[in-house]
Formats: sequence, C-alpha cells, structure tokens
Amino acid sequence: MEELPAARLCLPTGSTPKPVYELAAEWIDLSRAEVFVLDEFGLPPTDPSRCDAMLRADLLDRLAKPPHTIETLNPQALDLGVECTRFACRVDDGGLDLTMLGLGENGHLGLNEPGSDPQSATRRVDLHRATVQAAARYGPATQPAWGLTLGLREILASRRIWLLVTGAHKAQILERVLTGPIGPDVPASYLREHPNTVILADESAAAGIRPS
Ligand code: GLP
Repeated sequence: MEELPAARLCLPTGSTPKPVYELAAEWIDLSRAEVFVLDEFGLPPTDPSRCDAMLRADLLDRLAKPPHTIETLNPQALDLGVECTRFACRVDDGGLDLTMLGLGENGHLGLNEPGSDPQSATRRVDLHRATVQAAARYGPATQPAWGLTLGLREILASRRIWLLVTGAHKAQILERVLTGPIGPDVPASYLREHPNTVILADESAAAGIRPS
C-alpha cells in the first residue's frame, strides 16, 4: 500500500523565503509532502516572476527528490471562480499541516490585501499599488494587476503557521501586525487570533518591537 503523504505544506514565494529555501534545499526531504503554492500573479505561464516559477527555481528544482505533489493556482483557467474552488477543495481535503507566509509591506498575507476579513475565501484579487510596486523586485517587466490567492479562511484554518519577516522595510508593518488593532486594514493582524502561529523575524524587521 502506498504510504500516505507525511505533510501538507503551503509555501510562499518572494524575497523573504528565498535564502531559507536555498539552505533547506540541500537537506530537506519533501518526497512525501504535498506542496501547495500560496498564491499566483495574473501573469503569462512563461513569466519567471510567477510564484510557481519562483518556487521551482528557489526550492523545488533544487531538491534531490521532488515533492509527492505540487498544487498551484492557474491564472490561465477559463473560469477563475471554478479554479479557486478546485484549489480550496484540495486544501480542505485534509487541511494544511503548515502554512509558511511572507508579510506584505501593506500587511497582506498571500495576496489577501487590506480589506480582507478572516472569512475571505480563495479567490481572484486586484492588487494594491504597493503590491504591484513590490512585485517589480521579482523581475523588471513584472507588472501584475491581479492575482489568485489562498484565502485568509484557509490560511487561518492551517494547523501551524510560520510568518517570516526580514528587513528594515518590514519593521513598521510588523509592529502594526503585533500591536495595532486586529482587523481587515492589516490582514496579518488576524494571525494573533490563531492558536499556533510562530513569527520568525530578523533583527532589522523586529527593531520596532519592545519586549513586554
Ligand atoms: C508578495 C507575495 C506574497 C509574499 C509577499 C511578501 O506579493 N505574493 O506571497 O509573501 O508579497 O513578499 P516578499 O517576501 O518579496 O517581501
């Protein structure tokens, strides 16, 4: 009988996890893991700044053995509503053991932009200007206007969450996430209501946080 996958992981892309992936790729074994890609930009399939392309380049293609499965959101699907429901059903069918997240400078998680509430499902979203500007780091021609994202609802249902935050440019928003009001203006603030969230921040990102 085939062994069941050992873990169901949702992984982010972007600048923050890249150095973590480069180190982890040398030793981690994901051959029994089901990997879900957190979000995707509305970009052509060949664009190297797509989240699926970045995750493959930064982690998956470097592994000695590929993951058991890789599940992505397809922005070229004819019906994006159906595509998002398909992805959410795959997630819900067993849930997520671990969701790793980066933090948007505007407080977004995945592409759950400010205004998203904890019931926001997996869906198509228009990107805020700050997100479009930040995405320009991934490639000079990268100008996505929209994307698909795992919903806050599915993220917050994960059994464990790790939020990775690095760099001085994230210090102000991390302080708001941890000490500001919990609400849709800063979607990441909802992580404070999740029972098993770990925030991993470097010194620059944590500069605004005083031990209480
Ligand atoms: C991007 C991604 C998110 C990512 C976040 C932070 O828009 N789609 O999934 O976690 O914003 O990105 P970075 O780590 O590059 O700052």
